[in-house]
Amino acid sequence: MALSTKPLSGMRQRLPQEFRVEKYVTETLSLSSVLAGFEEYDGPVIEPLALFAAKSGDELVGRQSYCFTDRGKREVILRPEMTPSLARMVAAQGELQLPVRWFSTPLCYRYERPQRGRVREFLQFNLDILGSEKLAAELEVILVLQGIMVSFKAPSSIYRIGWSSRRFMTDALSRCGVKEEHSAAVFSAIDKRDKMSAEKWADLLLGACDNDNGVATQVIALVSVQSLSDNWLVDLMSGSSAFEEVVEFNQLLEGVGIPSAVFSPGVVRGLDYYTGIVFELMDTGGSNNRSLCGGGRYDNLVGLFGNKKISGVGFGLGVLTLTLFLETYGLIPPGVKKAAPADVYIAVASADVVSSAGRLATFLRSQGIRVMMDVSGKKLGKQFNEASRYGIAFVVTVGSEEVASNRYKMKNLTDGTVFTGSPEEISRELK
Ligand code: HAM
Repeated sequence: MALSTKPLSGMRQRLPQEFRVEKYVTETLSLSSVLAGFEEYDGPVIEPLALFAAKSGDELVGRQSYCFTDRGKREVILRPEMTPSLARMVAAQGELQLPVRWFSTPLCYRYERPQRGRVREFLQFNLDILGSEKLAAELEVILVLQGIMVSFKAPSSIYRIGWSSRRFMTDALSRCGVKEEHSAAVFSAIDKRDKMSAEKWADLLLGACDNDNGVATQVIALVSVQSLSDNWLVDLMSGSSAFEEVVEFNQLLEGVGIPSAVFSPGVVRGLDYYTGIVFELMDTGGSNNRSLCGGGRYDNLVGLFGNKKISGVGFGLGVLTLTLFLETYGLIPPGVKKAAPADVYIAVASADVVSSAGRLATFLRSQGIRVMMDVSGKKLGKQFNEASRYGIAFVVTVGSEEVASNRYKMKNLTDGTVFTGSPEEISRELK
């Protein structure tokens, strides 16, 4: 029986046209990071399971991970995210100049149900600052995120950066009557609010609140708050330092002017390690209903590797998720998909001039010109069709006469004009 032509479900393969789009997206992400003084790093794809079991949470590690025992009998995992590896790398550096500002675009693996914007092997752009406890660090990473959206020419009306704080929500939930032992379940229920129907969610929340209707009603009121000056919220949070921090962060955001940033107490994030401000980037239209990006402050990850207490803040952004969003709004420039793979095609008239054609190709390439040399050996007409199929604008023909005179005809396929010259003249003309 013939083997299947399909990859495993949810695994990533890219044809050149798709790859060009992905590259456009990742290069734009890198550029925005470099513009803000961030440096690139990388880490291993295979990690010890314990690294993620400590803090990433049961959903990610227990239910969505690719883990196995390697030949050395070690329990390992294909990294489902980058943040624990980053924390370890920072913890291991003795003399690191803090704060560090690093970015990376790792391939990550999660055994999720493949659906729009969610696959099992995905590129996740990460950008983090470690070693600053100031809210300026939260502000800086959100500014870079905003800069990214601007660099893709996305108007602020089509996306929303919903933000809140884990510390604030912990305090607020307790003031709503949630007992400490139910807090984790309530957080987890709140995180699932946008992933199910309102009725199903109300049931889930009620269960998480130990079936206490009064408490569940308070929690629903809390996650429905839309403004920090809401009277009910202000009364509830009277004297709370966590609330003061949230108000202060709101002032910072307003001071800079980030129209897409909206205080959203329902944003709590699914990963266990967040401790402070958290945020998520969502499409405000209906087509992409899962988060494009999520992040926040994590105080205790680096501390897992010894006694260094280094706080971090950052985000992860799904390259596929973002690409689908950009495609939804027509924000991938048409030239990216159609880009020709070469500037010039060398058509080879007969087998006896192949090495001369090779020499010409090598010369033009040495001049920085992208050259595709024919390897089909087909008739010249077919070679011209091939160049045109690739969208290559120029074809230089190499035949025995051209080789003898060292003068070549170069046809412009767009307007039909022909230029004749030596390799040097052709190079100059192409430039
Ligand atoms: P996360 O919310 O698990 O956070 O993932 C961040 C983003 O990665 C999501 O918003 C989504 O765009 C993308 N993503 C997640 N799972 C998938 C998937 N199965 N397929 C495609 N894209 C996916 C984290 O991973 C944190 N470590 C982010 C972070 C960095 N926090 C601080 N620094």
